[in-house]
Amino acid sequence: MRLTDVSLLAALPGLGVKHIPGASLAGRTSLGIGGTTDLLVIQKHKSLPELACMLRVASIPYRFLGGGTNLLILDGHLPWIVLQLARRTPDIRFDGNMVWVDAAADLGRTVTTCAKRDLGGMEGLIGVPGTVGGALRMNAGAYGTQIGSYVREVEAFRAGTGGIETLRGAEISFEYRHTSFAPDDIMLAVKLELPSKPYSEILQGIRICNEKRRSSQPLNQKSAGCIFKNPPGGSAGRMIDELGLKGLNVGDARVSDRHANFFVNTGNASAADMLALIAEVRERVRKAYGVTLENEVIVWKD
Ligand code: EPU
Repeated sequence: MRLTDVSLLAALPGLGVKHIPGASLAGRTSLGIGGTTDLLVIQKHKSLPELACMLRVASIPYRFLGGGTNLLILDGHLPWIVLQLARRTPDIRFDGNMVWVDAAADLGRTVTTCAKRDLGGMEGLIGVPGTVGGALRMNAGAYGTQIGSYVREVEAFRAGTGGIETLRGAEISFEYRHTSFAPDDIMLAVKLELPSKPYSEILQGIRICNEKRRSSQPLNQKSAGCIFKNPPGGSAGRMIDELGLKGLNVGDARVSDRHANFFVNTGNASAADMLALIAEVRERVRKAYGVTLENEVIVWKD
């Protein structure tokens, strides 16, 4: 979608918002799939309520893009504009065991920066690609760790009220790959409380998780991580593997040979290819196991 509203365009610099016309979203997602649209990069969080209000008044639909690592976006000219937070420096502040992190900060770098301050707990999250905000919104987890366990406060823009609010950790429900945030809430910053641990011990945990991940996941290929959530008590990857579906492809969208719940873009996969592969695998699993797998990947379709 092209932004043509003259008064809105004129207001953007004053709000600290950078306008990138016709941005390619394929280059901004780990799957390397996605069409084009105008991108607004927000330098000042405080501008978000005013910007959102102006977009609403001008009837301009928008989506919010985090790190783009768990996302499948439609091809072509997209029917909404995209907002993204600029990275702020410094993006981490410490006070004892409390850590304030900007939502646009890289999750892996946050884990290692905290480790250097002898603050641990999040070792399992090393190697989970994306931003702290993205991890927070979906309660990202790996190797027994979920980010939600460490959250004490979240600053978020709430589209429902149109304002920025600070929520206490206890007010937010964190479940397996799900939180109580509304789909259109935008994470801005988080306060984490991390347990003290010697750096050497954290480093050891980080090495073990990195090794496990390297040996079981296709890290050097374009993917969005796991495509499906694990069903209660089961493993989507194991089920797909047991059905012999590794290597199954639609165009350049392919079930990884390394981990069957990772679908990789081996070249120029389209969103339609990836969606067709997802539908095919879901159907085969349903027929064989009677289980309908739920997407973990977020799909921006319409
Ligand atoms: N397995 C297979 N074949 C495969 C893949 C897995 O047999 O192709 C088996 C494994 O041998 C293992 C079991 O399935 O016995 C579980 O596999 P794994 O340890 O790889 O974990 P997962 O349940 O497939 C989850 C998360 C990952 C996270 C890992 C490590 C989900 C959907 N996935 O995968 O998170 O990295 O545990 O903790 O919860 C993601 O969320 O995008 C993601 C990749």
